[in-house]
Amino acid sequence: MSGIAGVKRGSLLSRLFRTKNLDKILADSANQEHQLKKTLSAFDLVIFGVGAMIGAGIFVLTGAAAAGSDGHLAAGPALTLSFVLTGIICSFCALCYSEFSAMAPISGSAYTYAFSTMGEFVAWIIGWALVLEYAVGNMAVAVGWTGSVKEFLHATWHITLPSWLVSNTLDTVSPEGLKGADMSIVLQQIPFTIPFTDTQQILLIQKAFNIPAFLIVVAVTALLIRGVSESAKTAAVMVFIKSSVVLLFIAVGAMFLFGGHMDVLQHNWFADGWKTFSPNGLPGIITGASTIFFAYIGFDAVSTAAEETKNPQRDIPIGIMGSLALCTILYILVTSVITGIVPLGQINKEAAVVGAMNFMGYPWASWMISVGAIAGLSSVLLVLQMGGTRIFYAIARDGLLPQALAKIHPKFQTPHICTVIVGLFVALGSGLLPINLLAEMCNIGTLGAFMIVCIGVAILRFTDPDRKRPFKSPLGLTFPVLGALGCVYVMSGLPLFTWVVTGAWFLLGMVLYFGYGFWNSNLNQEMDDVQIELLR
Ligand code: ALA
Repeated sequence: MSGIAGVKRGSLLSRLFRTKNLDKILADSANQEHQLKKTLSAFDLVIFGVGAMIGAGIFVLTGAAAAGSDGHLAAGPALTLSFVLTGIICSFCALCYSEFSAMAPISGSAYTYAFSTMGEFVAWIIGWALVLEYAVGNMAVAVGWTGSVKEFLHATWHITLPSWLVSNTLDTVSPEGLKGADMSIVLQQIPFTIPFTDTQQILLIQKAFNIPAFLIVVAVTALLIRGVSESAKTAAVMVFIKSSVVLLFIAVGAMFLFGGHMDVLQHNWFADGWKTFSPNGLPGIITGASTIFFAYIGFDAVSTAAEETKNPQRDIPIGIMGSLALCTILYILVTSVITGIVPLGQINKEAAVVGAMNFMGYPWASWMISVGAIAGLSSVLLVLQMGGTRIFYAIARDGLLPQALAKIHPKFQTPHICTVIVGLFVALGSGLLPINLLAEMCNIGTLGAFMIVCIGVAILRFTDPDRKRPFKSPLGLTFPVLGALGCVYVMSGLPLFTWVVTGAWFLLGMVLYFGYGFWNSNLNQEMDDVQIELLR
């Protein structure tokens, strides 16, 4: 029978772009066998959003984005404008996410929205991009976590951990960085190097594995298997610690500047007019925006918790917009303090916030900032890891990956198999790969997902205009269109090498889709059943 059905199958194109009816998606998610526990409130979701956002982006990447790094133009104090620009683009996307997730409160987030508007193939691509966002992003965060732990141990007890324990197997340095080094020692550490000309870096393969990063990911995975509300409580504690540290930093900076040092800010921002404020003009601002975009990643993770939210139609938009607004304000203030107080050439590229505290004469605060950074990065790990597993779960539930992966733990009611697989993948990647490549790959995946969500919202306004929209992005199609264009603009600032590696990732996605998902998708089975009925 399947042979006959096979002959009668729809064209390849119609199968690739088969969409899943939104009502059917909602009905499937209500299926008893796959129910998740509903425990989260609007407040939990804002905490979740802030938990996902404040992390490596602001604590680790800001310094290099302001002062420039290998292959990346310095934004200078105009990095504040990069944050404003990215915040505005993200707010357009957040409006679209809010509209979609209030309409379809499903854990698959952008993947599910694409499935109902642009069809299975686009949904798969976006699901694959989201894995890149959450899993690869979390690898970068785990590497940053190790950096903060190193900083903390050094500042508090003067302990320096051996480099083989806290470095990644693959890492990058600039040729400049190797000048003057004792090459016999370098070669002992580094058996193999690959020139990485696009970003003027050298990729090193060294005898090292980032063990703290590996272990923290394993711990987060165990917590997520245990339960979402337990994870939300842990995230709340960490969000409280990191927000307090960020607020303390802003307050200390403001007291320093307004307590008689406004001339310092005047000098650091405008000594030579606009040239000082924005040393590389618009290209510098865009490069800065595409790097610090990482700091904004996470507000969208709120939508992946939709099936675990008590009143998703009301609470998800509050969670998304609330966390984005809060973090945007904090980021702009932190960047203003750093660039206003520390001259560009003296910004600490690995730890700009700690560096600024030292610069103001408060070295005792280093350990406090490090604790904030550790808490911050831990909560990002927790929320992004949860987001990644929920996407994976939604994909498996649709049959595009083996359905056995979507099993829910009988006692904890969490998707434990997905959680373990994503956890192991992230743990291994965080031990092996360099942070800059990981963060940039994550940015491409996320921007792609954001763009497709914006386009999906616009499409659904035409194809399903009468559907109830508990939250609607205002001014017609203005924000969906601006959001999609903004994402393309920010993506254009990322280096070619990142595009190449990301291309390889999507090639692997294609192999998986055409080797498995296309044939085993629930929709494929349903199409076959219809054909068989027709032939009877
Ligand atoms: N926004 C998160 C961070 O900056 C991913 O760590």
